[in-house]
Amino acid sequence: MSGTVTMEIIPLAAESLGSRGMCVFIKTEDQKILIDPSVSLGPLRYSLKPHLKEIAAAYLSRQLILKAVKNTSIIIQTHYHGDHFTLGVNRPYEFTNQEMQNKIYGNTDKIILAKDPKKNINYNQKKRAYWLWKKKITIHSADNNQFIYGKTRIICSLPLPHGKEGSHSGWVISVFIEDSQDSVLFTSDVHGLESEAALNFILKYKSNHLILDGPSTYHPKQTEEDTRMAFNRIKRILNNQFYLDHHFLRDKNWRQILIEQNLENKALPLSSLFIKEPLCLESLRDELHDQMPMSEFGINFYTFFQEQQEKVLPIIKDQATLLPFANLEKLL
Ligand SMILES: [Fe+2]
Repeated sequence: MSGTVTMEIIPLAAESLGSRGMCVFIKTEDQKILIDPSVSLGPLRYSLKPHLKEIAAAYLSRQLILKAVKNTSIIIQTHYHGDHFTLGVNRPYEFTNQEMQNKIYGNTDKIILAKDPKKNINYNQKKRAYWLWKKKITIHSADNNQFIYGKTRIICSLPLPHGKEGSHSGWVISVFIEDSQDSVLFTSDVHGLESEAALNFILKYKSNHLILDGPSTYHPKQTEEDTRMAFNRIKRILNNQFYLDHHFLRDKNWRQILIEQNLENKALPLSSLFIKEPLCLESLRDELHDQMPMSEFGINFYTFFQEQQEKVLPIIKDQATLLPFANLEKLL
C-alpha cells in the first residue's frame, strides 16, 4: 500500500477468513474503530448447509469481535444485514441472540455512528435498526455526515445502493477515516462498484488503504453485463493496491477472474494482511463436505443451538483453534 502507514487494520470477519462478513478493527492515532461487527454463514450453498470448518470460522470471528468491542471507542454500522449487524434474535450461524447484541452495542462508553434508521432504508432494515436506536446509548446518524474525534476524522457517504441503483436490498454507507498520517476507505456492500456513486466516493477521498466489496459473480442473478460494468469501475480506482473481499470471494473462480481482469497483483483478499492463503470456505463447501463428512461426528450440528449445544460447541472450539487466523486475538 502507498503512503505513510500508521493505521493498523485488522480484519475480524470476511469471506477470506472463512465466513460471511466485512468486519474490520482500525486503530488510528487516537481511536479504536470497529466497523460492521457481525459474522454470518450462507445457509445453503451447492444445496449444502455450512461445513464444520465454516461454523468454526464464524465462531472464531464472533470471539474476535467480542474481544475487539471491549477495546473499541467508536462503532460504525454501515447497514443492518445480519452479516454486518449483530441481531438480537437467535441466529445459530451468526452466534448471536439478545445477550450478544447487548454485549456488542449496549455499552454507554462507546460512540455509535450508524446508517440512518428512517431515511433511505427498506422495511426489513428499518425494523432491525429500531432495536439499536431505542437502546440508551450514544448514537448518531452517519448518512452524509462528518465526525471529528481528536486527531481522527470520519466522513460518511450519502446512502449508496446495496448493489445496483434501485436495489431491493436497500442502502449502505461507505466510510473514509483519516488521522494526521494515514487514511482508509471502507465501502461496505457496494457489490464491486455496481453504482457510479460508490466509485465517486472512492475517487473523491483518495485513501492510502481501500477495503472494497467485490462483485457477486457467484450469484445466479448476476449477469455478465453486471460483472463487466463492475470491473470497468474497479479499474478506474487509482490505488496501487486495495483489498477486494466479501461477495466476490464467494466465487470459487475468484482468482481466475482476477487474472483475466489483470487485477491479480492489485486486488488482494483482506486475509492477506495476516495470512498467506485466503480461507474461502463457503466457495469450497462442496469439497469440504466430501473431504470431511459431517456425519463422521455422529452429531447433528444443525441443531446445535438447541438440545445439542453441549456436545457440539467443544468440537467447534477445537476446529477454531486450528484456523490460521486464531492468533489475531493477540493484536486486539
Ligand atoms: Fe454484506
